[in-house]
Amino acid sequence: MNIAIVGFGKMGNKIYEVANSKHYNVVSIVDPYSKDEKINSKELKKESLNNCDVVIDFSHPSCIQENIKFYISNEIPAVIGTTGWYDEVENLKVFAKDYPNSSIIYSGNFSIGVSLYREVVKLASSLFGKTGSYDVFANEIHHREKADSPSGTAKLISDIIVENFDGKDKVVTERLDRKIEPNEIHVSSTRGGWIPGTHTVVFDSPFDSVELTHRARTRDGFAIGAVLAANWLIGKKGFFTLDDFVETLINNR
Ligand SMILES: NC(=O)c1ccc[n+]([C@@H]2O[C@H](COP(=O)([O-])OP(=O)(O)OC[C@H]3O[C@@H](n4cnc5c(N)ncnc54)[C@H](OP(=O)(O)O)[C@@H]3O)[C@@H](O)[C@H]2O)c1
Repeated sequence: MNIAIVGFGKMGNKIYEVANSKHYNVVSIVDPYSKDEKINSKELKKESLNNCDVVIDFSHPSCIQENIKFYISNEIPAVIGTTGWYDEVENLKVFAKDYPNSSIIYSGNFSIGVSLYREVVKLASSLFGKTGSYDVFANEIHHREKADSPSGTAKLISDIIVENFDGKDKVVTERLDRKIEPNEIHVSSTRGGWIPGTHTVVFDSPFDSVELTHRARTRDGFAIGAVLAANWLIGKKGFFTLDDFVETLINNR
């Protein structure tokens, strides 16, 4: 597999390491700002991708919509790890209709463990919600350089809770200067230090508390998931999420 990496920051570097360790070829690295000598191009254009089979993009929320349009219109398979664009998913799917051979897989969290964690949160939300005696809230913690908040994963988790916990239909991510309403879930974000990503969901009753936490130890889990997803994506057409890949991974065991 010939991979082009777009965005050569913390995650781009990890993708490079993981791809090499799996003996895949990194045929191009694109980043407008990095001073790393491995960079092939500062500009995202067809020639700069060196006929890659697939792109893995962990760049920046400010450019990601344009990047995705570029991958779709050039029908270059692309793994999108960059977060901060999910309000535009439906618009981009409409855009992709004119390019039937385009293929995109995206996720706010490429860790296979998080994909499974979300299944666990789904089941727990449905069970605890049915009792009528538990409340639910969530927190996420990320390193001090993260550009967006709440994290893409926290948004995915919030959606799962809203869909499955009886009586909750609204997510509040900003600071609350008032009492929370019974139908609201408070999802808070903390930024600081070097934490690669920690997500916790708490089911709390007057008598006890159940906490489900996913704690990424390093960025390797995101990078491995993204590289495996890239391999899976080649030859497929359409818009996919990591769950589509994990489903085939589990069902083929
Ligand atoms: N889905 C997942 O599993 C997952 C996991 C971790 C992170 N992420 C997301 O992935 C993205 C990158 O995270 P990171 O921790 O690697 O951040 P990072 O260290 O800041 O790396 C981003 C890199 O992309 C560069 N960049 C900025 N604009 C660009 C453009 N127009 N084209 C190409 N590259 C550009 C940045 O340059 P400058 O530093 O000069 O701006 C930087 O080198 C973020 O959106 C983050 O939330 C996703």
